[in-house]
Amino acid sequence: MSAIILLHLIVFSSIASRAASASDDLTGFVYAGCSQPKYTPGSPYQLNVDSLLSSIANDATYSSYANLTSAAAASSTPVDGLFQCRGDLPTTDCSSCVRSALSQLSSFCPFAAGAAVQLRGCFIRYGNDSFIGKPDTSLLFKKCGDPAAGGGYNSDQLGMRDAALAGLSTSGGGGSAGSYRVGAAGYVQAMAQCVGDQGGKQCDDCVAAAVAQLKAACGFAVAGDVYLGKCYARFWSNGNGGGSGGGGYNYNSNHYHGDEAGKTVAIIIGLIAGVALIIIFLSFLRRAGNYGKE
Ligand SMILES: *[C@@H]1O[C@H](CO)[C@@H](O)[C@H](O)[C@H]1NC(C)=O
Ligand SMILES: *[C@@H]1O[C@H](CO)[C@@H](O)[C@H](O)[C@H]1NC(C)=O
Repeated sequence: MSAIILLHLIVFSSIASRAASASDDLTGFVYAGCSQPKYTPGSPYQLNVDSLLSSIANDATYSSYANLTSAAAASSTPVDGLFQCRGDLPTTDCSSCVRSALSQLSSFCPFAAGAAVQLRGCFIRYGNDSFIGKPDTSLLFKKCGDPAAGGGYNSDQLGMRDAALAGLSTSGGGGSAGSYRVGAAGYVQAMAQCVGDQGGKQCDDCVAAAVAQLKAACGFAVAGDVYLGKCYARFWSNGNGGGSGGGGYNYNSNHYHGDEAGKTVAIIIGLIAGVALIIIFLSFLRRAGNYGKE
């Protein structure tokens, strides 16, 4: 009986620590948006939405981007959808991120005619407003980290930030093209991701708009995120550079570190529980022995 409880405790604590570290990262929630119009539950439109979303879940098992249209129910307007995973993710991470995004979508935006969810590792959107292939640089979400700690702002950092961000544009420093881009200078790192329906020029323009917003909004911050309609850009400082720590703004790019720590905690809890069980068992034996003597 005790052994069964113990086993559950270990399994549970290991799952809990896994879930916590995962939600800090790839499946961490960034934003969601739902259209005002809603569809009627059980309508042909819902059939199209449901079949679209299940196709998205399926396509994410082998691709990091897809656009889809569902006209399963011909009596309704077709529904378009797409998903985009962060370009550096392996397929298994992409697929689990998209599954998590899909489940958040239905809880945030029940019966919405159109909706979008952005998690740290992936983005999904559906709707009947013909958004696929169109540029969209409207600001959806913005967050700046704390100002550099210690009062004395290091002007080197501003230069590094600008150089790292310049690496995100094809004409700038690093000159990385494609829908996933990275930049780095000194201890500042940057990344950008366009939605795969954007061509090279559209992606350039979107990233440039996001970078301009980052510079304007997050001037003296150690980190910043700007999410536009069809792309996002981020920068962050490595923990110990220039005396400007993370400032409580967790931008650790070592995704799996937390997982290892979680496993260690689970093992320690298991060991403690095991020792406790042995002590209980020994005291039970002793009492049983005493009982026999009386
Ligand atoms: C999109 O779907 C909603 C809900 O069914 C409907 O109200 C709206 O008119 C549709 N828009 C278009 C462009 O078909
Ligand atoms: C949408 O998907 C189709 C089929 O996979 C592809 O040929 C087309 O280029 C995609 N369009 C955009 C804008 O991504």
